[in-house]
Amino acid sequence: MTNFIAKPANSLSGNVKVPGDKSISHRSIMLGSIARGVTEVSGLLEGDDVTSTIEAFRSMGVDIKRNNGKIIINGVGVDGLKKPAKPLYVGNSGTSMRLMSGILAAQSFDSELRGDESLSGRPMDRIIKPLTEMGATITSNDSKPPLKISGNQQLKGISYDMPIASAQVKSCLLLAGIYAEGNTCVSEPAPTRNHTENMLRGFGYKVNTKENKMCLSGHGELKANNIEVPGDISSAAFFMVAASISKNADITLNSVNVNPTRTGVIDILRLMGANIELSNHREIGGELLADFRIQSAELIGINIPEELVPLAIDEFPAIFIAASCAKGETTLSGAKELRVKESDRIQVMADGLKTLGIECKVLDDGIKIFGGEYLKPSGAIKSHHDHRISMSFAVASIRSKFDIEIEGVDNVKTSFPNFVELANYIGMDLQEV
Ligand code: S3P
Repeated sequence: MTNFIAKPANSLSGNVKVPGDKSISHRSIMLGSIARGVTEVSGLLEGDDVTSTIEAFRSMGVDIKRNNGKIIINGVGVDGLKKPAKPLYVGNSGTSMRLMSGILAAQSFDSELRGDESLSGRPMDRIIKPLTEMGATITSNDSKPPLKISGNQQLKGISYDMPIASAQVKSCLLLAGIYAEGNTCVSEPAPTRNHTENMLRGFGYKVNTKENKMCLSGHGELKANNIEVPGDISSAAFFMVAASISKNADITLNSVNVNPTRTGVIDILRLMGANIELSNHREIGGELLADFRIQSAELIGINIPEELVPLAIDEFPAIFIAASCAKGETTLSGAKELRVKESDRIQVMADGLKTLGIECKVLDDGIKIFGGEYLKPSGAIKSHHDHRISMSFAVASIRSKFDIEIEGVDNVKTSFPNFVELANYIGMDLQEV
């Protein structure tokens, strides 16, 4: 097990490019694999989660190579996947498991999806139920992985009102819909990331979006399409908070994805008084990009607007660190989903903040954080092997007068493999031990 020792930092500066977006990277491998022709992907996130997706498609017969820093996928077409020799192991990656289930439910072969301890505790009923309605046959361990998916089930399109706002569920059903008879429609209770819809269109597959409802018809083809993966705003968020809470910071983050379904963290930090400037807006392959300049700010506590929750869903661990350094009280509610991420991010963040002497009150669907001064930590922070918890508490060291030790940080490489290098480059003092 690897730990971080994060030492106090004085000032942050510099210009960095965060790694490629995780959600877009997964989707580029999945769609590239079932498209006809050669898809070249540049800027792919080379983290463990995306590697799990690559390995899964390789074991279903897709030739995926690296050439000159690009990933070259020899797509096999929608019906070209082969039965894998073994269960597909996707490690820590919920996106791999939930999205691939949609594709696997429609194959002519049986398959099994497995994950690590954290993923094996995460709910899969949210995809099993609608896929079963479409005609899939899936068995699970009491609605949790492993998932055993039967082949040779003809799927039919359904119209599904999602009870929770989840891009993974929406994407799973749209991918299954490619193989289904008739139309598949998914309605979402609140906007969620739309990378699947955007990328399907890029691969020449028609998706109709009308208000909160996305529909496609089955039995179409995907045509290979080159993809440039923009920087991941979820990774950028750690440095956005780092610079905001630092007493002396001026950093630039280049080429970050600013798809409006992902920018809740910018809105929330700005409501707290953060000094974030966006420039050089541009579009690549249906996704928006910008450069970010972030300078130190005096943050204030806020009531986080509930409509921003799905638009910042992965950024709350970092936002909680901002709240712990803000003047006054920050309240989050309507965020029960945080309890079923890679860890229970409400409880685990509250426990970590208490270790630093920050007062907080855990709510069923959120948290109240009372901003304050960090005290000498009462022990090591337990990350529960959650990458975003580890990186968030590393960022907290910027405002600490004492070293912070964070236990179990190996999974940082699932989403941000060069986090330590970039953190130290901008002026943090982070060691892996
Ligand atoms: C993701 C969707 C979100 C997010 C996850 C990635 C995706 O999950 O938390 O990290 O790539 O579709 P939910 O759909 O469970 O909200």
